[in-house]
Amino acid sequence: MYSNIHATVVGSINMDMILNMPKVPGTGENVLGSTYGYANGGKGANQACALAKVGAKVKMIGKVADDANGKKLIENLKNNNIDVSDVATDGSQTGLAAILIDGDGKNRIVVYEGANAEIDPVKAVSAIRPDTDLLLLQFETNEDVIIACVNHAVKNNITTVIDCGPAKNLCLEKMQGATILSPNESETQALTGILPADEESILQASEILQKRSKAKYIVLKLGAKGCSLWDGKELKLFPPYKTNVVDTTAAGDCFTAVMALEYIKNGDICNACDMGNKAGAIAVSRMGAENSIPTVQEILQMH
Ligand code: RIB
Repeated sequence: MYSNIHATVVGSINMDMILNMPKVPGTGENVLGSTYGYANGGKGANQACALAKVGAKVKMIGKVADDANGKKLIENLKNNNIDVSDVATDGSQTGLAAILIDGDGKNRIVVYEGANAEIDPVKAVSAIRPDTDLLLLQFETNEDVIIACVNHAVKNNITTVIDCGPAKNLCLEKMQGATILSPNESETQALTGILPADEESILQASEILQKRSKAKYIVLKLGAKGCSLWDGKELKLFPPYKTNVVDTTAAGDCFTAVMALEYIKNGDICNACDMGNKAGAIAVSRMGAENSIPTVQEILQMH
């Protein structure tokens, strides 16, 4: 379905340490966990795997260290048919995320960026394939990389989607002109000071984001409320699909990747938001980051 699309992801690659517990600890509290495990993660790598799983041809640009986690993560990207020829391996330490999941499937994530913060902006730009149809970026690298890549993409008319995770108030004014800017609720709050809780606050925040970023579309990921689309004229809300929430980790990554591909394929941003909602709903019904990514068949069967 998306096999003609060449996508490039410039972003993070992390080892995720996932701990499940009935209730996350408060300050000074010590709680017992129920299970734990390690999984491949990082917002960039999750989005690259989601693009590849639904059939796109994917190149990943990023950085790990020459350590055990770095080797495992690169091997995994290769196994997903992702071109890793421009993933550098000379970082200080491979990125790590500690993910705490409570009994309701809600997560709290601490990320040690390590090598992800050491990506060289000049090298990243020169590694972007000239024939790429889609450039996908997140905030889990250093700001200079994002600025350089967006500016390059805008100059070269490459459709660019910025996923604004994790929550950081980066200088959107220096990364203007992307096709789609897509933060979740807490990321929207970090960027605008407004928590998108109802139609009025969604509109206010979207207007600020568009003014600052000059992105064509602002797509807010609203968790259990679905997503919203602002094109500068009209606000549209897309209700969520009903699902059993097990773990919300990487649901936003699946949403962004599928929404971006669907937009490239048909140029229909409304349909793209709906497809993103379907992918996100399937992802939250499963444990893990990359493990929770749905196939195209699963997305098309969702209703
Ligand atoms: O979006 C989910 C990802 O955020 C996890 O895989 C973790 O690595 C953090 O970066």
